[in-house]
Amino acid sequence: MNKKSPVSRSGRFSGGPAADVAQFTESISFDWRLWQHDIQGSIAHATMLKKIGVLKQNELSAITKGLNQIGKEIAAGKFAWKSELEDVHMNIEAELTRRVPAGAKLHTARSRNDQVALDVRLWLRDEITALLGDIAGLQRALVSLGEKNADVIIPGYTHLQRAQPVYLAHHLLAYVEMFERDCERLWDCHSRVNVCPLGSGAIAGSTLPLDRELVAKLLGFVNANGEVQLTQNSMDAVSDRDFVVEFAAAAALLAVHSSRLAEDVILWAGAEFNFIKIADAYTTGSSLMPQKKNPDIAELARGKTGRVFGNLMSLLTLLKGLPMTYNRDLQEDKERLFDTADTVRATTRLMAAMLNNTKVNQTACAAAASDPALLATDLADYLVHKGMSFRPAHHVVGAVVALAEKTGKPLNQLTLAELQGIDKTFGHDALDVFNLKTAMAKRNLTGAPGTKEVAMQLARWREQLS
Ligand code: ARG
Repeated sequence: MNKKSPVSRSGRFSGGPAADVAQFTESISFDWRLWQHDIQGSIAHATMLKKIGVLKQNELSAITKGLNQIGKEIAAGKFAWKSELEDVHMNIEAELTRRVPAGAKLHTARSRNDQVALDVRLWLRDEITALLGDIAGLQRALVSLGEKNADVIIPGYTHLQRAQPVYLAHHLLAYVEMFERDCERLWDCHSRVNVCPLGSGAIAGSTLPLDRELVAKLLGFVNANGEVQLTQNSMDAVSDRDFVVEFAAAAALLAVHSSRLAEDVILWAGAEFNFIKIADAYTTGSSLMPQKKNPDIAELARGKTGRVFGNLMSLLTLLKGLPMTYNRDLQEDKERLFDTADTVRATTRLMAAMLNNTKVNQTACAAAASDPALLATDLADYLVHKGMSFRPAHHVVGAVVALAEKTGKPLNQLTLAELQGIDKTFGHDALDVFNLKTAMAKRNLTGAPGTKEVAMQLARWREQLS
């Protein structure tokens, strides 16, 4: 074998690629991250090759031992990656073969095309599992903050204008619901990641009698019913990156949710709202203004959506118009995938840590929630109870609000005479509507921010997340 030539060029080529070509085409600088899964896949493949008689037992043992040893060296940072060997697959195989002669048989009936598809699936499967754990942590942080402040009522907003009172916990649990849908989407994506492509070869499988089921079983490619999951078309299997796009799309929506939560946190931490105080360790200062305490974690959670959305767009563009089957373009999937996974995982963890170190300013919340205008709709409902149709009731209360504005009085300070001056339907009990505590107790529809309902939802989530 020509010493300068990478394994993939031996025989056919007279030498290695030009230096700038090697630099342009290499992927080891980023796909080294797949090493654990590459080794895992190779051991399963070798085990199968032994079963079908391609490898002898001593050869399988030597290969397995060699791969595990290489794995230890990589983990310890002692493995010398060579960029002229292009990618993680060739680096590991070449080093194995240098140490173990039987390593030359490892690539039997395997191509880097099905190998890389396998490695990415194995890597992503683990990453999704870890991300689901990170999301659960963020959900728990939201539930805890809600529980610690179970009595706190704040204005709910539409158009960022005060609308109706809600428990702070109800607002926080809205995000728990969003993140739960993210988990469902990721788990659904996982079912399509969890399909074994090995045995597809370069494009057309192999003439050797591979046992694809065995490899899939060894690598845990089974569904919830224990059925082995194998790709069913070798051409699709080596060119399919739909599962990467699906993950990037689910991650993009997760990033949207984190960003919306971040925006609420940023607003609430500002002096104008003053609803929360983030612990010093989770904020940063200004290099110029000594008084500043900035919610940078939340701002970066919001800002990092840009790269996560961009990665999704890159991946879609990468796949569009690719002829069948494997094309080197596909190598461009990895950095986008890694960046998306790293970004959403870090964001999720840091947002959780920040919320676990955030205190609610109950006084400021109570002051904001005491605005009687938040209960204007309740006053219209009062008229409905008295038999008025809702449209005219809405109109009457509108006139009440206008009068309050004109006289400079809060809504609940108007006299019964003033109310009856607008409509005779108002009775002595009209102003009872402005008791916030009873108002909250009344909102007991499923999904509404009623006192009992919110307590029930907090308990439901606490249990579900434990
Ligand atoms: N580094 C390649 C990738 O990431 C591995 C597969 C290369 N296959 C090939 N025939 N050149 O996609």
